[in-house]
Amino acid sequence: MTDFAIEISNLGKTYKKSKRSAEKTALQSINLQIKKGSFFGLLGPNGAGKSTIINILAGLVNKTSGVVKIGGIDIDQDQQAAKFKIGIVPQELVIDPFFNVRETLEIYAGYYGIKKSERRTDEIIEALGLKDKALATPRSLSGGMRRRLLVAKALVHNPEILVLDEPTAGVDVELRNQLWNYVKKLNQSGTTILLTTHYLEEAEELCDEIAIINHGQVIACDRKENLMNVLSSKELIISCTDEITAQTLALFPNLQTKLLAKDKISITYDPEKIAVAKILHTISDNKIQIKDISTKQPDLEEIFKHLIKAQS
Ligand SMILES: Nc1ncnc2c1ncn2[C@@H]1O[C@H](COP(=O)(O)OP(=O)(O)O)[C@@H](O)[C@H]1O
Ligand SMILES: [Mg+2]
Repeated sequence: MTDFAIEISNLGKTYKKSKRSAEKTALQSINLQIKKGSFFGLLGPNGAGKSTIINILAGLVNKTSGVVKIGGIDIDQDQQAAKFKIGIVPQELVIDPFFNVRETLEIYAGYYGIKKSERRTDEIIEALGLKDKALATPRSLSGGMRRRLLVAKALVHNPEILVLDEPTAGVDVELRNQLWNYVKKLNQSGTTILLTTHYLEEAEELCDEIAIINHGQVIACDRKENLMNVLSSKELIISCTDEITAQTLALFPNLQTKLLAKDKISITYDPEKIAVAKILHTISDNKIQIKDISTKQPDLEEIFKHLIKAQS
């Protein structure tokens, strides 16, 4: 038995030239290993290649090179068996206009060959807050409700892995919270979650492992905590009772300092190299009275910008 829910090795994708677009290499040589039971975030700016990876997993896009295994099954060897292990919520709000919510889910359960007695249609409708809309046609649903239906559709066969491609783009806060609560619950009960997003705070809050991709390449992949430590620097903000002079700034020749106001200074430091107490002592030893202090840690957004800058 493999410990990985998804294993992607040297995955490449070049979209062929068409009437509308030139040839485009969307994925260069992607390697990703997603552990069973993890909540994995695939992060990257628009055009990075996130949906291309997801669509290859879904069997909607053919890869150009590399190996993809879902639940230990090579998609080149048994695409059908691989499909049973995974539920995919696509980025596009594609809907089937002819069937109501309930019928849609029943039809999908039918595609997967799930016996009537084993279907979870009502449970899924309830869990996703679609009960009032069970008989509504998808055309009449709001964007948020359509998104719920897509999640419901991805769950009819009780997949081991749930993949969500930018599920909260254009979704209201209430739905966003409900969706996350539900997905967190699924994860706690053992479902592996793969989420793509360009909302960094979302990944920061939810995921335990994060890969960052840019221009079809993985530029970082680690546990969230480790990634947060990539930029280990902290920022110390000090307000003083008097104006801060050039002399004060000169007290820290080896640290990056910035004047935020006449009486407020920001000092960037690496806690591994210098203790905050040392900085504060240096200030008070020079008869500068401190009024207030605060510290700031970089968030994923800053790490992301830093990594992308380092790459280009
Ligand atoms: N069907 C397609 N034909 C040609 N180019 C495509 C196609 N789909 C995506 N691309 C291109 O591949 C790159 C990656 O796109 P995509 O995987 O959708 O990125 P993301 O989901 O990270 O925004 C982009 O440059 C995009 O324009
Ligand atoms: Mg996308």
